[in-house]
Amino acid sequence: LSKRPTPGLEQSSQRGHDGRLRHLISLAGLSRTELTELLDLSQFYVRTPGELPARDQSLAGHTVANLFFEPSTRTRVSFELAARRLGADVVNLDMHSSSRVKGETVLDTIYTLQAMHADVLVMRDAEPGLPAFVAGRVAPHVSILNAGEAHLSHPTQGLLDALTIRQHKGEFGALKVLLVGDLAHSRVARSAWQALATLGTGEIRLAGPEHLLPEDSEFTGVTRFADIDKALADVDVVMALRIQTERMSAAHIPDNAAYCREFGITAERLKLAKPDAIVMHPGPMNRGVEITAEVADGPQSVIQAQVTNGVAVRMAVLATIVRNAHSQRKAP
Ligand code: NCD
Repeated sequence: LSKRPTPGLEQSSQRGHDGRLRHLISLAGLSRTELTELLDLSQFYVRTPGELPARDQSLAGHTVANLFFEPSTRTRVSFELAARRLGADVVNLDMHSSSRVKGETVLDTIYTLQAMHADVLVMRDAEPGLPAFVAGRVAPHVSILNAGEAHLSHPTQGLLDALTIRQHKGEFGALKVLLVGDLAHSRVARSAWQALATLGTGEIRLAGPEHLLPEDSEFTGVTRFADIDKALADVDVVMALRIQTERMSAAHIPDNAAYCREFGITAERLKLAKPDAIVMHPGPMNRGVEITAEVADGPQSVIQAQVTNGVAVRMAVLATIVRNAHSQRKAP
């Protein structure tokens, strides 16, 4: 699945007639300046848990619909909280139990929501292509945000990962970042790589079992390692990725204990990285497989900060997209 190019994947533009982002489907093609502006606005919305969350009225009068065709907890909840904290009305459609099952096409559902004044549609789907397909067909006032598309793209996750790294480590140019695990099936890794490469990260490394590494044509400019211990040497950031068994055929599913032994991020192994290296994981974690509980809950873990940043990033993306859509409607 993951190693196949995606035939017919629509390259419909995520930009409006003025060149600004109207949808967010992929981080590919965003400039360093655009990424930095999104990170700066995200940082503006970050609050420490315990403080009251940031709030404003950037989305007052707007309606955000969350359409999740795949299960999700943190991403769906963080989009919902982000939209509410910006003053939007929010509807959540659990599409497992909804219209697709009754045979209604996705487009009919979209047009129904559009007719009810939904103006931002947040979508997650297991198949590639749906966000771009829908973006090419909605009314001019509607924006599409990709909240996870097959193994291909998860742009707000890429932004929250970049933000978390920037908060803890500063300038990207000086950093060595390791992405480790099931890279072949990971939309998180693809979006993180797109963000980190564009932001000028000093060195990006990939490590994982041979059959879980992506094709050479993907992730250009990275250094690939078969040996996790060599890959960890001297890195500033370790991003562990989930073993995504739901995207693998039974024959490819690794044995948990063997995987942990060979590629898991353990406290012992983490000593090979820089002493102040941070450890990330997008969640949900398989504790004891790609990461041990000791590391996940340990002093170098920034996994909870990633979750906190996720809400701020989604606020920044929502505010930016809606602002751009407004100015695009005003202009001829
Ligand atoms: C990821 C996802 O669903 O893409 N989770 C998330 O969005 N926080 C990662 C994963 O499922 O492995």
